[in-house]
Amino acid sequence: MRKKLIAANWKMYKTPDLTREFFREFLPLVSGHSRDEIAVCPPDIDLVAAVEAAKGANVAVGGQNVHWKPEGAFTGETSAGMLLALGVKHVIIGHSERRQYFCETDDTVNLRLKAALEAGLTPICCIGEVLEEREAGLTDDVLRRQCVRAFHAISSKKAAKLVVAYEPVWAIGTGKTATPELAVEAHAVIRSEATEIFGEEFASKLRILYGGSVKPENAAALMAQEEIDGALVGGASLDPKSFAAIVKY
Ligand code: PGA
Repeated sequence: MRKKLIAANWKMYKTPDLTREFFREFLPLVSGHSRDEIAVCPPDIDLVAAVEAAKGANVAVGGQNVHWKPEGAFTGETSAGMLLALGVKHVIIGHSERRQYFCETDDTVNLRLKAALEAGLTPICCIGEVLEEREAGLTDDVLRRQCVRAFHAISSKKAAKLVVAYEPVWAIGTGKTATPELAVEAHAVIRSEATEIFGEEFASKLRILYGGSVKPENAAALMAQEEIDGALVGGASLDPKSFAAIVKY
């Protein structure tokens, strides 16, 4: 049995004060919840507040990106060691918004992933097709290509903590959720590619999350699928009640 991971991706929302306010309300709502792993990934500026607020609680804190070098002249970037120094455990890598707006490529995803794994962080590596690719029948090819390139030259031993998030780009922030059936199909493609790359034992343990307009109303149907090992939640994770409802689907 794979333990599900329900992760919040706050994107560029909330200040440290609003982060503390969120945790004050959220933690009592999920206290004692041990069925699933819970993580909140705020903007870097809120990480200290989040780690402090979540101390001793059943909620881990994650970053939204990580650079592949330990330090250097890379304005605006954060290294894995810096995240770890704050008590951060997870990090989102290769989110479609980074690919779309910030020139993230499969190759830079691979570099970031290697650095995160090397440092002992739990990377949540995002992949997914855009609408045109789905409509052209290219979804499987795109997912396989993204996996091959993201996981290039990473051994199954090194990849032990890897988590993948399947996020169809047409479902992100649009209110259009993939049906559970469609998500399961895509997850199966990713798991089969992971089998090719890392072997069957690894692939059977790999957690593949679904992301894209997950809400309290659709979480139960998605999470009921054995093939779906959790969720990466954007918009609906900003409100403590709504994110708690998703965690407790
Ligand atoms: P959404 O975002 O839940 O707002 O669609 C998901 C994500 O981008 O991770």
